[in-house]
Amino acid sequence: MKTTAIAVLAAVMVALISACGETQPNDPASRVEALLGQMTLEEKIGQLNQYSNTFDITGPPPEDQVGRVRLERIRNGLVGSMLNLAGVEETRRAQEQAVEHSRLGIPMIFGLDVVHGYRTMFPIPLGEAASWDLEAIERSARIAATEAAAAGIHWTFAPVVDIAHDARWGRIMEGAGEDPFLASRVAEARVRGFQGRDLASIDTVAACAKHFAAYGFAEAGREYNTVEISENTLQNAVLPPFKAAVDAGVATIMNAFNEIGGIPATANSHLQREILKGEWGFKGFVVSDWDSIGELTVHGVAADLRGAAAMAIAAGSDMDMQGEAYISHLADLVRSGAVSEDLIDDAVRRILRVKFQLGLFDDPYRYCDATREQRVILSREHLDAARDVARRSIVLLKNDNDLLPLDATRGSIAVIGALAADKDTPLGSWRARALPGSAVSLHEGIRAAVGDDVEITYAEGAPLTVGERSFLHELTFNTGDTSGFAAAVAAAEAADTVVIALGEEAYQSGEARSQVDIGLRGVQQQLLEQVYAANPNTVVVLMNGRPLALDRMAANAPAILETWHLGSEAGHAIADVLFGNYNPSGRLPVSFPYHVGQEPLYYNAKGTGRPRSRGDVFWSHYTDAPNRALFPFGFGLSYTTFEYSAVELSADELAIGEELTVEVTVENTGERSGTEVVQLYVRDLVGSVTRPVKELKGFRLIELEPGSEQRVRFILTADDLAFFTARGRWEAEQGEFAVSIGPSSEELTEKRFVLTSGCEPSAQNVR
Ligand code: NOJ
Repeated sequence: MKTTAIAVLAAVMVALISACGETQPNDPASRVEALLGQMTLEEKIGQLNQYSNTFDITGPPPEDQVGRVRLERIRNGLVGSMLNLAGVEETRRAQEQAVEHSRLGIPMIFGLDVVHGYRTMFPIPLGEAASWDLEAIERSARIAATEAAAAGIHWTFAPVVDIAHDARWGRIMEGAGEDPFLASRVAEARVRGFQGRDLASIDTVAACAKHFAAYGFAEAGREYNTVEISENTLQNAVLPPFKAAVDAGVATIMNAFNEIGGIPATANSHLQREILKGEWGFKGFVVSDWDSIGELTVHGVAADLRGAAAMAIAAGSDMDMQGEAYISHLADLVRSGAVSEDLIDDAVRRILRVKFQLGLFDDPYRYCDATREQRVILSREHLDAARDVARRSIVLLKNDNDLLPLDATRGSIAVIGALAADKDTPLGSWRARALPGSAVSLHEGIRAAVGDDVEITYAEGAPLTVGERSFLHELTFNTGDTSGFAAAVAAAEAADTVVIALGEEAYQSGEARSQVDIGLRGVQQQLLEQVYAANPNTVVVLMNGRPLALDRMAANAPAILETWHLGSEAGHAIADVLFGNYNPSGRLPVSFPYHVGQEPLYYNAKGTGRPRSRGDVFWSHYTDAPNRALFPFGFGLSYTTFEYSAVELSADELAIGEELTVEVTVENTGERSGTEVVQLYVRDLVGSVTRPVKELKGFRLIELEPGSEQRVRFILTADDLAFFTARGRWEAEQGEFAVSIGPSSEELTEKRFVLTSGCEPSAQNVR
């Protein structure tokens, strides 16, 4: 650290100790205040300024003007954070620029999108949510954090806690699906995993719940589109996972590109100041999304960047990602009296606090240990964990006549499809620093799993895409080349069984990957039909980042395995399930429609005033497709079977302060041991506002040996029944409830009870 910087910090500490005997100079709050007191207005605003790594910090000085200005600003203490740099060498060199050259030597905080792994890739988050296995999800985040921290990263822009109802939206792959209860539990697990018990530990990183808020509700599923939702939906469906993340101690929140009710999220005081920092008491900081402060001018709520800066800081956006708004205009806005310096101080305090918590002031290079980086990243232990989480994330959608599991000791298998040999697609989108093409392909996984007596042939059938495949560019799909069909059909005819991989390329879902059609792209459906005609013993292995409309496929293919984009060990994990070394236990965290026209489709919808036929056509339905999902939320098969007893309640009434026990017995009636995800749903029959037809309120994973059974007990209290009522508060309303338990949102047995205390649903429903 530069000598003057050390002298200033030392003077601050001495002043603190002598000024008041009882002050604890090591207490983070005091250290933050002491430092803040030393900072010029420009240095404070510098802490709110974040740049992406657009030049090679480890190389010669940048030649372009932007690069030169940025480097100068880092050296002048005018950059608080950088994103998109990684690796011990690169982060150390960048940190040196701030620590060694700037007056106060304040370390930068380095952020990266470590969404489902740093280099060892785990399943995409939607896939991982399909495991419903909170321990596995936490472990995955823990390993991602360990690898990222070993590569000099302090902060991940994850978890994505956006609820999404529309499969057309490509970023549905980044979240935990459509249900606020499941997504809240997953959010907590991910925050715990990333942040561990202590942010100061060397293997933890600060987490960032995003995108605040309602980003997943883009109209018509079109990326960055307008969001128009009611306060009711915002409070009951969108905010709960954010609240859960805050309660779990998430260090930061990222706001969103979208507007909501006419106010862009980045300029939204109601969200950021009233709810997040007010009602919820969030003490961390809010980072904007990429240039989302600048985009306030494009949205048309600010005339220029100066106005955008004033608006965003007032609304509670603490750090400006890549927007140049704060660094260019805030100082002048403060000096002219248009923005209070208190707002700046509050934002700086929040950011410095996280830096102190991470231990960056104790040693700004503590995350820069080349030996650790070498030892930790992509270790065998991490890969084994990735395989384990991956197989837990697989969902068996169909298995007629027990076609699966396959025999690994004899027979012949034709492996078909471009995705089956693809070593890149399983890494998924938002893959941090995964090595391109480093995943175990399905073909490799199958080969490794079978004995010498099994004959494996491979035929591509048809390429899925043509030309470049990248995060930054549009994909081009193969819509005409069927020249490989004949070989695929011949392979299918000659084999006992076919395993065909179909679905989506890695970058087909993710940011800016909205689609109006969610069927199989290109010539895949044609290929499937020809292969199936040649050999009906066809197992479809789906690889995709969003729910697909599989109506035509499901009508024929006897076995369908949903494998998402499963990460580094994808091929091994899928083979574990194909050959029965792992009995599939995943359950869908999103509804799979018959047809894209059903979107947005989600199980916890409202019933409407006309939910079913009264003998005529005048009810809420489509005339050409069912209302229900083809594969519903919570659904997934196993190689064994489970039977549920009737639901039993400890009482038929519940009052505030009391507990109601809800129990079932679940028996494994099949011939294999297996894991069942026992799900509990509640319906509030009459409310001050309309209530969903059912809502998940609990789930348990139980492992059962064949022939054994287990009593599964849930405890419900009035808190579980609370929602955002017509009075504008979270509270439970008295009246009748249906509680049901089963293996999916569609196969449930129900009991009724009455909540005898709480608000009256019929009371004043005017706010
Ligand atoms: C834009 C994305 O919306 C956000 O999720 C991500 O963290 C930033 N870019 C930084 O990569």
